[in-house]
Amino acid sequence: MANDAKKQEILNALKAIIDPDLGKDIVTLDFVKDIEISGGDVKFALELTTPASPMKEKFKTQAEELVGKLDWVSNVSVSLTSKVTSRPKQQKEIRLPGVKNVVAVASGKGGVGKSTIAANLALALSKEGAKAGLLDADVYGPSLPILLGVREMPQVTEGKKLIPIDRYGIKLMSLGFLVDADQAVIWRGPMVHSLVQQFLRDVDWGELDYLIVDLPPGTGDAQLTLTQSIPLAGAVVVTTPQAMASSIAGKVVSLFRKMNVHVLGVIENMGYFICDGCGKEHEIFDRGGGERMAEHLKIPFLGTIPLDPRMRSADDAGMPVVESKPDSKVAQVFREIAGKLAQQIAIANAEATGLK
Ligand SMILES: Nc1ncnc2c1ncn2[C@@H]1O[C@H](COP(=O)(O)OP(=O)(O)OP(=O)(O)O)[C@@H](O)[C@H]1O
Ligand SMILES: [Mg+2]
Repeated sequence: MANDAKKQEILNALKAIIDPDLGKDIVTLDFVKDIEISGGDVKFALELTTPASPMKEKFKTQAEELVGKLDWVSNVSVSLTSKVTSRPKQQKEIRLPGVKNVVAVASGKGGVGKSTIAANLALALSKEGAKAGLLDADVYGPSLPILLGVREMPQVTEGKKLIPIDRYGIKLMSLGFLVDADQAVIWRGPMVHSLVQQFLRDVDWGELDYLIVDLPPGTGDAQLTLTQSIPLAGAVVVTTPQAMASSIAGKVVSLFRKMNVHVLGVIENMGYFICDGCGKEHEIFDRGGGERMAEHLKIPFLGTIPLDPRMRSADDAGMPVVESKPDSKVAQVFREIAGKLAQQIAIANAEATGLK
């Protein structure tokens, strides 16, 4: 059989694999790349929409099985690659060239774990092979430099661009590098607005697949400026079992909807307790509240993070748990949530592009 005919047989076989998120087969989605055929040996790559895809191993196994069944094939080798997608250009005042997806992490209430989650998600995405950045947009209480143990100030280029700080493989920038939080408290809305805008314009992120933005709690000036001035892939809302009862998270979701920001999902923090001594999981609250809330608001539920005293000590030590204890249960939960988030971003991008 000629190689062209063999190639066609391979593609026909692979058409049986459907991406459940995008509702199309992987050949139509153009995931199959670089097919090489040499006698009975077949090699090709699957180029997914994110390196953090929870589906990747399954696709690989399925592809190997299906192609392996062709009678002339003796050996199949499938490699996984990715090309992170982004939304079609949105008309916004500030463009961040090179940044494919900006994700805002928000909450109605303070202290629910936004900063901790933003840092660990960025690290988890980076560990899957994505280029990730982290922006601390909390003018009133920047905390990411502390969480990541960063003490140095960012460099400024000759063109007056700020260069983010490299830490644990991700790029970090914080408004706290530039302003004194005590001073910011007395600022009025328009000052916060222009500061945040100026800052967004001045940072040189280079190439990023995901930029995770840690917002201040609530729905104040900084949040509005951010969501209005830069193109967002979407927002993630963090809540806790206690905050859920007061429906504050619901208010944040409706605000985002009013501003046409796509809500990528809800993360529930401190949903149950993992004992740092015995590792046992204890249910303190009614389990499943976050999931019910997400269902009620018709947004995806990304997962529940346990209350784990080790997280606090990791935060204090300047090394988030995904970095300091990659084998822990919490770190694993973060990686799963990061995968689901990446998946939701890919779905939203496909919908916005008309691919889905
Ligand atoms: N799952 C968790 N288990 C244990 N401690 C946690 C967990 N999540 C967050 N914390 C701790 O709770 C505190 C508040 O977390 P964090 O600063 O991330 O919240 P935040 O929502 O960003 O707060 P703010 O609204 O002030 O910006 C920190 O000390 C953090 O270490
Ligand atoms: Mg915070």
